[in-house]
Amino acid sequence: MKQEFIDRLKSTSREGIESVITELDKLGFFLAPASSRFHLNREGGLLEHSLNVCNVALDVREVMIVRRPSLVDKLPIDSVIIATLLHDTCKADIYRTNIVGSTIGKFSSAIPKYSVDYSNFPLGHGEKSVIMLLKWGLKLTDDEIMAIRWHMHAWDLPFQSPDIKGNFQAAKATCPLLSLIQAADGLASHILEA
Ligand SMILES: [Fe+2]
Ligand SMILES: [Fe+2]
Repeated sequence: MKQEFIDRLKSTSREGIESVITELDKLGFFLAPASSRFHLNREGGLLEHSLNVCNVALDVREVMIVRRPSLVDKLPIDSVIIATLLHDTCKADIYRTNIVGSTIGKFSSAIPKYSVDYSNFPLGHGEKSVIMLLKWGLKLTDDEIMAIRWHMHAWDLPFQSPDIKGNFQAAKATCPLLSLIQAADGLASHILEA
């Protein structure tokens, strides 16, 4: 899976992609779980989840273009690959492996395998992914930035200010890539990986 992930990213020939692969590897992206307690909470889960989101998004893209051919200009394959494989870059450095199996009376089995520690670069979720990628020198389009930044909207928005909700609505109105990545993330997490 790691090689497939790398090959797909390299297939875009995007400026900065080699640096992104190196930095992800350094942070432990390829061994990280996708979550601490939910979908794919096992070693390599984040890699598997990212590929699942990419596959689903490419499939849905095809269907949507059949239904509305003009979408082809707004959903370039390279953008779908980059926005899906890298949408959860923010998770590369947040998981810590707990010691499980030690016996502390009847509570031993309650210790989760992973815990979450946001202290390394505490910026949020989608916005953290975008900033990390830009810091590493990846050339992102505006649509890719919006898609990655807002891919968690269903979870983030109830806690956001009216100003941020307005920005999200404006992004959604102009960026089909955002809706595609958000939908593929949900379909992968809640159906394929459930
Ligand atoms: Fe996410
Ligand atoms: Fe995700």
